[in-house]
This record gives sequence, structure tokens and C-alpha cells, in this order.
Amino acid sequence: MRLDYLTIFPDYFDALQLSLVGKAIASGLIDVGVHDLRQWTRDPHRTVDDTPFGGGAGMVMKPEPWGEAIDALLAEPDPTSVFVVPSPSGFPLQQGLVQELATYRRLVFACGRYEGIDARVMDYAATKLRVLPLSLGDYVLNGGEVAALAITEAVVRLLPGVIGNPQSLSEESFSDGTSGLLEYPMFTKPASWRGLDVPAVLLSGHHGRVEQWRREQSVALTKARRPDLIAQEQY
Ligand code: ADE
Repeated sequence: MRLDYLTIFPDYFDALQLSLVGKAIASGLIDVGVHDLRQWTRDPHRTVDDTPFGGGAGMVMKPEPWGEAIDALLAEPDPTSVFVVPSPSGFPLQQGLVQELATYRRLVFACGRYEGIDARVMDYAATKLRVLPLSLGDYVLNGGEVAALAITEAVVRLLPGVIGNPQSLSEESFSDGTSGLLEYPMFTKPASWRGLDVPAVLLSGHHGRVEQWRREQSVALTKARRPDLIAQEQY
């Protein structure tokens, strides 16, 4: 997979070199390009923003540098690529959408700052590739960079060969469309630590009881933290 990032803060993406994503780059499983949007400005001040038509607070990212960036990155229309636009007004990112993104050949992240990007940029990008505005949740970040990194991590860990034990993918929260429950609590050695004991059932060696306990924990946690995920009668 190829990942491109359009940003005015390329340094944010130094973090791509770390951990699993860094290893995926080093091993050639993914290939990344980080692009400073200001290289596509033409004025001495390398301006990327301007005041909004219609008035209002804040600044809007000008379309021209984005248009040139899109042309530079995509010579031809490409149905195997997605233009991902992190934004609090995007579609909510969920694991199913992450799985879908993992099937594309290329993701181009458009990281906006200020009050956002001139809406015509998304219309123009849509003439070349699928445009997908994505929100991480109902809160406001200062820009799309941190969201692009989060989306990258969620996608890259699903690519074949990135995670050593693929079973750890299928057992986690949200991965399983049939259960839809949050993950149960996990413990490791020592069995007793600072007066806190691991639940005895986990030391019992009784597989059936362990499974039942985990299921109950998942249901209780989901009811407490994410009642929206649960149809109460079902459990
Ligand atoms: N940019 C600013 N806030 C964001 C959010 N909540 N999700 C994705 N991108 C954003």
C-alpha cells in the first residue's frame, strides 16, 4: 500500500518511522510520501489560507495549492485510491470502514488546518478518486495530522504481514461484527501484585469457565461504557 500525506506540518509524520508502521515501511509492505503543501504555493509568503466568503471567524485553506498538489500526486483518475479528509464533520470512523480502507492500493491524506479546506478541493479531488471525509469522534482537533496518523495505524495493522499473530486481530473489540462487544480485561503475571489479585477463574485452567467469565465481563463493560452498542434484551 502507498500512503501520501499533504500537510503544512510534515514533522508530525516523523512518527510513522516508529513501531509497527515503521517496520512495515522498513520491510517494504508500505511506502509513504510526506508532502509540504507550501511547495505548491506561488507567492513569496507561501500563503495557504484566506478569509472565508460569507464571513465568520477563522481562516480557510485556499484551493490553489491543493489543486496543484492533487495534480502532482495523481496524473490520472485512479479508482484504486482514496482521498481521505480528516474532519470533525466527516463520516464517523469505525472498524468496518478501516477494513474497507485496507483494501485500497493508495490512500492520500489531506490534512486541513484552520477552519478547514475550501470545499471545491474535495469536488475537484472527486474527479480523480474516491473522496472520504472521516471523523475520529465528536471533538475538535487543531488539524488533520493526528487524525491521519490514527487512521494510518488502524489501517496498516490490518495489512497482511504487519501483525505477527493475526488471531490477535480477530479477538479484539469491534473486529467481530457478530459480538460487537468491548474487549474483556486482560491480566498477566504476577498473579498477585500490590495486594491486587488476578480473578481466580483465570488461574483455574477451566477453558469453559474462562470463556464464560470473559463474555460476562465484555457484556458488563459494554453496558457501562457503550450502551449504544448493545441491545439490552440480547444479553
Ligand atoms: N480534525 C479536527 N478534528 C477532527 C476529528 N475529530 N476527527 C478527524 N479530523 C479532525
